[in-house]
Parts: sequence; C-alpha cells; structure tokens
Amino acid sequence: MKNILVTGGTGYIGSHTVLELLENDYNVIIVDNFSNSHPKVLDALETIANKKIKLFRTDIRNKEKLEQIFKEEAIDAVIHFAGYKAVGESVFQPLKYYNNNLTGTITLLEVMEKYSVRKLVFSSSATVYGTPEKMPLIEGEPTGATNPYTRTKLMIENILEDLSVAKDTWRLLSLRYFNPLGAHNSGDIGENPNGIPNNLAPYITQVAIGKLDKLHVFGNDYPTEDGTCIRDYVHVEDLAKGHVDALQYLETSKKGFDIFNLGSGKGYSVFEIISSFEEVIEEKIPYEITGRRAGDLPVTYADTTKAQNDLNWKAQKNIQEMCRDSWNWQKKHPNGFED
Ligand code: NAD
Ligand code: WQD
Repeated sequence: MKNILVTGGTGYIGSHTVLELLENDYNVIIVDNFSNSHPKVLDALETIANKKIKLFRTDIRNKEKLEQIFKEEAIDAVIHFAGYKAVGESVFQPLKYYNNNLTGTITLLEVMEKYSVRKLVFSSSATVYGTPEKMPLIEGEPTGATNPYTRTKLMIENILEDLSVAKDTWRLLSLRYFNPLGAHNSGDIGENPNGIPNNLAPYITQVAIGKLDKLHVFGNDYPTEDGTCIRDYVHVEDLAKGHVDALQYLETSKKGFDIFNLGSGKGYSVFEIISSFEEVIEEKIPYEITGRRAGDLPVTYADTTKAQNDLNWKAQKNIQEMCRDSWNWQKKHPNGFED
C-alpha cells in the first residue's frame, strides 16, 4: 500500500499526518479546497519534507473532479479528514455541516467504490460519546449526539458500518480523536484557526502573543478537584502516527469496520493546562472566570487499551511537550501562514 489520498491534508491534523506518511515512505496525494486552511501549508510541508507533494485543490463534493483524480492516481487507501468541525457553528448552521460532512463523505465513498479502493481511515471525534455516565470512555459504549457536528460523525460511522456489511472487501476504520494539542517540532506547521479560536490551547497562545487580552475560563464550579473541566489532550504528532499505524492495521485486518479511541488516556484540567503553558512561556496567562459554556462535560478521557492492543499505538508525548510545541509554532508564526 503506497499511494495514500489524504482529504483535508492541509488542515491541522491532516498536515501533520502527511509528514508522518512521507517519513514512512508513503506517497501522498492531498485533496483540499482550503476552506479552513491556507495554500501556504503546502509550501511548509514541502520544505519540511524536502520533496514535492501532489495537491489537488478541489472540494470533495465535486464528484467529477474526484473521479478524475482516482482515474489518474493509483490510490491504495484514503485518510479522510475533510469536513467542518466547529461544534457551536454547527448548531446555528446545521445544513452547512450535513452538506459538507455527509455529502462529502458519501461522494468520496461512491468514487472509492467505483474505482475499487476500499480502504479508508476516518476522522471521528470523542464527542460521539454524548453525555457519558462513566470514565474512561471505551469504544463499545453507548454513543449520542448533542449537536449537528457530532451527529454527522455518528451518521458517517453508521454509513461505514453499513458499507462493511454490504460488501466484505471494505476495510474501514473510525478514529475517535480526543483533544489534539501541539504542533510539528519544526514550529512551521500548527493549528491556525480563523478568527477568535473556539478551543482552549490556541486561545491561550493568542493571549500569550498579545492578540487577545485574556482567557475566559468557562466555569470553575465543576465537580473536579480545581473546579475546571478535565480533558484528554493528545499531541498532534502522536495522532499523526496513529494514522500510519491504522493503515498498517488495515493491510491485515479481517474486520470490515472498526473503531479506535486516540487519546493519551490522561485528563488535565483547564487550570493545569494554563499552568503548563505558563511554564513553557515563562509568563503568566491573564484569565477571568466566566460562566460555564453550554454543552461542556465536566470530565472526558479515553480508555486507549484497544488502540494499544490492536494498532500498537500509544501516545508518547506529555503535556509539557504539547504546550511547548504549540507555543513554539505560535511564537514563530504569530500570524499563522501569513508570516
Ligand atoms: P481542519 O479544519 O484544520 O482541517 C480540515 C481540512 O479539510 C481543511 O484543510 C479544510 O480546508 C478541508 N476541507 C473541509 N471541507 C472540505 C471539502 N468539502 N473538500 C475539500 N477539503 C475540505 O480540521 P482538523 O482539526 O485538522 O480536523 C480534521 C478532522 O478531524 C475533521 O474531520 C474533524 O472533524 C476531526 N476532528 C478534529 C478534532 C480537533 O479538535 N481538531 C477533534 C476530533 C475530530
Ligand atoms: C477544552 C476545555 C472548555 C476555551 C472541542 C470539540 C470537540 C473536539 C475538540 C472536534 C473545556 C475550556 C475552552 C476557552 C475555556 N473537536 N475552555 N476557555 O470542548 O473539549 O472539545 O474540541 O471533534 O468536538 O467540542 O475542547 O478546547 O474547546 O475546551 O475555559 O476559551 O477548555 O470549557 O473545558 P472541547 P476545547
């Protein structure tokens, strides 16, 4: 298996995965419409990897174009990152999410079927566990969606499972990511949110660089030791490695469809994340406690036993490394790919 089509390959997780694939001697073909990424990501990737990378600028919902790519390239497997990911936005613009995430995935699967490419790794999310009763989160446990974004992830998992039942030559994997953090060790690619960040880590680094005044901590009255929410943060380079392990697993797997958590298995509170950043930045992060954010769960972290046993994958990097690398990227590129 040599030629890997990566949809959304210039996005945050996709770009790190592209580098990991190249390091493991895969050929990469990227498809991205740059709806949430910058064309300069490709330059950064080519510089870091020191090779040319093939990229098709197109929307995966453009079936004709996608077919042309499958006709021209001898694709062996697909890693599918392309989609919208903002939970809050999905509540107000559900059709935008259903259209891009579902239509995009269905179009991709139809083209894969037509060209007999039946291996796919899909980016799912830990949010599919809904409002769980106990921790850690294990793959077989009940799922639920509290917003349209998450519902698209669950619907796609269902579609993949149905496909595997319909034809036993499909090999489909869903990876449920927990909270990705960090950036490539070069500091030349990283998370590059448009506008004000929704997520904790980019918000903190933008406060530290002086783009934002202070962090708003969404609630300190949760039933946790310090009152702030606990999440399972995982280094984006560890996540990227998980995709290479997933591809290797698909080579020999007898299962048509399978699901794996990708997290570190450890939980850190918002205050602990602030402290870790303060250590690497060597400055205090100004913050204010505000009210809870709607929909936030007090605690989430993964059981990673299944990924360890079957994929031979385990997160290696600790929270200091995650914060250091996020900060390194922010410091080196205060304006993201505009610098
Ligand atoms: P991202 O927005 O940085 O990357 C997604 C990429 O897909 C972008 O480059 C965007 O331009 C591209 N894209 C979107 N729609 C497209 C379309 N129709 N055609 C072609 N390209 C398209 O997001 P990310 O953080 O790298 O996440 C990648 C995947 O992982 C997403 O599916 C997301 O839902 C999932 N995920 C992300 C997180 C997270 O916290 N970052 C957590 C769990 C799951
Ligand atoms: C982490 C903690 C906030 C921002 C989200 C998506 C999830 C996944 C990853 C895609 C929470 C607190 C945050 C801020 C804060 N993406 N916080 N001030 O909510 O765990 O997950 O991103 O699948 O789908 O829901 O991550 O980084 O937004 O928040 O206090 O400005 O930080 O309340 O406790 P979350 P997050």
